[in-house]
Amino acid sequence: MKLILLGAPGAGKGTQAKRLEEAYGIVQLSTGDMLRAEVASGSDLGKELKAVMEAGNLVTDELIISMISSRVDQDDCAKGYILDGFPRTTAQAEALDSMLEEKGQKLDSVIEMEVDEEVLVGRITGRYTCAKCGQGYHDEFQKPAKEGVCDKCGATEFTRRADDNEETVRSRLVAYREQTAPIASHYDAKGMLKKVDGMADIDEVTSQLKAILG
Ligand code: AP5
Ligand code: MG
Ligand code: ZN
Repeated sequence: MKLILLGAPGAGKGTQAKRLEEAYGIVQLSTGDMLRAEVASGSDLGKELKAVMEAGNLVTDELIISMISSRVDQDDCAKGYILDGFPRTTAQAEALDSMLEEKGQKLDSVIEMEVDEEVLVGRITGRYTCAKCGQGYHDEFQKPAKEGVCDKCGATEFTRRADDNEETVRSRLVAYREQTAPIASHYDAKGMLKKVDGMADIDEVTSQLKAILG
């Protein structure tokens, strides 16, 4: 199974991708996570990426496309994958079409998570992540069962993203509106676009996704 989760920053792409990974035995391919790993490595490329990401801008299409193209060839993608945060521009969507054709692959679903922009800043500024296993949490909407302890792995250290401050979020939302939102029509024109209500609570969104994916 191969699918794209489309949605604004904070729509819940990462939260739901992690659940679908477990439910369907497929892997989450988050371009944001890949870029953050490069930043954490401290490489020269990582330093460049850090500046772009902290300004809330998009990194170049060329870099992203080559990153994804080599990633989907790895063994763990054989059963399928969830594209989270990619494609994000019309150029990326078109490059993905050609890439899939070359590899003889086909997308099963493109699902847009619809949300009202007003809730997104609050979702993003309240987000934190387990430093050990990457499980996502939220100060208000998704607390661990025991405060300060990861439900999944028991770790007690958490991190917050450098781009999760209000100012950067505003720029990320502008980038989304101008460069990413238009690609929904790329998939709609192919008759592939489906939608879920990203304003519903986290479990309800998972149910809506599973109803589509079967
Ligand atoms: P990326 O990492 O992709 O960030 P994003 O698209 O801005 O999306 P987020 O990860 O912020 O949101 P999400 O939808 O995953 O929400 P989450 O599930 O965590 O990209 C970061 C940067 O990298 C970009 O700005 C760009 O610079 C660069 N980049 C990445 N990909 C690129 C590409 N293809 N091309 C160019 N540049 C690229 O949920 C958010 C919070 O809300 C969580 O705390 C969660 O607990 C909570 N929550 C989730 N669902 C619900 C719900 N239903 N109700 C209540 N709370 C909820
Ligand atoms: Mg994410
Ligand atoms: Zn953990």
